[in-house]
Amino acid sequence: MTHRETDLLARHGIDRGRVPAHVALIMDGNGRWANRQGLTRNEGHAAGEAALFDTVEGALELGVTDLTVYAFSTENWRRPPSEVRFLLNFNESLLLRRADELDERGVRVRFIGRRGRPVPKRLVALIERTEARTRDNARMTLRIAFNYGARAELVDAMQRAVDDAVAGRLQKVDTDAVAARLSDPDMPDVDLLIRTSGEQRLSNYLLWQAAYAELAFVDTLWPDFDRETLAACVVGYQRRDRRFGGAVDAPDPAAAPPASAAPPPPPPGAPGATSA
Ligand code: FPP
Repeated sequence: MTHRETDLLARHGIDRGRVPAHVALIMDGNGRWANRQGLTRNEGHAAGEAALFDTVEGALELGVTDLTVYAFSTENWRRPPSEVRFLLNFNESLLLRRADELDERGVRVRFIGRRGRPVPKRLVALIERTEARTRDNARMTLRIAFNYGARAELVDAMQRAVDDAVAGRLQKVDTDAVAARLSDPDMPDVDLLIRTSGEQRLSNYLLWQAAYAELAFVDTLWPDFDRETLAACVVGYQRRDRRFGGAVDAPDPAAAPPASAAPPPPPPGAPGATSA
């Protein structure tokens, strides 16, 4: 551990044992940030790159094991063609310029989302190359949701289930059967989902995986987000009481602590849960 790693945790008073394993981000507010500075929306997206990579560093320092970022949704094709074109090129150039750094930092890169048309073949090839190159990295998995929409992901999972049932490979649809057919079946449930820019909605993001996520909506516009803002969100997360449906009375501070405080059973689909 470096001195700096101790810094971020200690400075924010973060309990190392209760850091959210999986943090998901909706990087919102680039356009508004740019407009306020008299810049174009695309310049706002470009400014978001520094925020993303500082946040990746912060996540590594905090010991987050899975970070998932929303880079382009299945609905974002509706944006003006010049912005769509910019975002396609931007994501490609970002991968080309940053793959070395991510690899050196021990980050495994994966993409979730549909890879068929209209995603350019060249971008798909680069995505596959980056995934293959970083496949064995184990410090953190950075998932980039690109041409991703939770409804599309669930529709695709249902279709795979139907195909497998027709082929005799699946007898019963249950939680595990759906989870195994999602875009990345290895992705754990989201613990903390952060949306920047003051908007308070999920916009078709990780609807299955975020079933029990703690939600944090912060006013910061994405280009102003950094590892410190991430740490502040983790502090808020550590104050929450996660119950997973198993409500318990708040402990009476006057009463003696229980001999063993067993956590509630995990929800269906969570690691360690048995299928209903
Ligand atoms: C969802 O809001 C937000 C996204 C899909 C994120 C889009 C992010 C970017 C375009 C910037 C990417 C930046 C970097 C640094 C890679 P929405 O606008 O799709 O949905 P809404 O209409 O409900 O707000």
